[in-house]
Amino acid sequence: MTATVLVTRALVPEAMRALDKGDCEVDLWQGPPEAIPRDELLRRAAGKDGLLTLLTERVDDELLDAAGPQLKIVANYAVGFDNIDVAACTARGVLVTNTPDVLTEATADLAWSLILACVRRVAEGDRFLRAQKPWIWGPGMMLGHDLQGKTLGIAGCGRIGRAVARRGGGFGMRTVYHDPIRLSSEMERELGLSYCPFETLLAESDVISVHTPLTPETRHLFGANAFRAMKATAVLVNTARGPIVDEVALAEALRAGEIFAAGLDVYEREPEVEESLLSLDNVTLLPHLGSATIETRTAMGLLAVENLFAGIADTRPRTLVNPDAWPRN
Ligand code: DGY
Repeated sequence: MTATVLVTRALVPEAMRALDKGDCEVDLWQGPPEAIPRDELLRRAAGKDGLLTLLTERVDDELLDAAGPQLKIVANYAVGFDNIDVAACTARGVLVTNTPDVLTEATADLAWSLILACVRRVAEGDRFLRAQKPWIWGPGMMLGHDLQGKTLGIAGCGRIGRAVARRGGGFGMRTVYHDPIRLSSEMERELGLSYCPFETLLAESDVISVHTPLTPETRHLFGANAFRAMKATAVLVNTARGPIVDEVALAEALRAGEIFAAGLDVYEREPEVEESLLSLDNVTLLPHLGSATIETRTAMGLLAVENLFAGIADTRPRTLVNPDAWPRN
């Protein structure tokens, strides 16, 4: 019998062509660009052998129940998989995959776009000119901060954190990091990284870039206390997951001058943006663009499709998140 899969949003054309070449029937959500409505997702998941999901879809017991016992794989089109109850999938023998590696460099580039935008007030300058206010070059106009000789703090030093750290060397920065798992001394040496406790990272960094996964431990890791512990000249950039930063506390810290600026690509209640941030000039806001390049989204799509096909063909997928579910019985 031909396998059937649900794909919850159209992918880039090359990935769609790869999907079409597969030996399965594809049910593609073609609705408006918004995420598939929950009731539609539950209805269309029923009887499917595989699901190709985005970070906007919650994969939990309810969805797994709706899909049914024939479901073999949930192939997530993202490196992050906090939208998926992995334990629930494993308990049912459902494979979960993600798209690591292929988006590392694009996401690191975007983190640096935000770092530079914040320290040199790029978006604020753009908004200023568009408002067509009178201006003249002046010694004190819109001053930012140098990066040369400053300290870059990496909160969470996985693949993307390390790629951001590597770029820091090019800007003449010293780099410290904090992660629950310390890197090998060879890797620390190779990347020019110094390990430090979280409190030291907060106190010493001029720029902090967030790269931890979202877990119960990292939810609101950056809240009022963290902002008070940072330098008044510091910049915080988050390209990981929104709930790692307490947005209300961030807005307050930015307004009070407890930190210099922030750059956000992700939000606590995405796609909603905390209203108190919107009127602040010292925050740069992007709509979750970390991996948004043609090359990277193509590579993510091809990897997600490859994983999906492997799962329905009972072959071990390349980037399996829950090895405990393999082999399926
Ligand atoms: C991810 O992959 O987790 C990003 O947030 C989107 O590319």
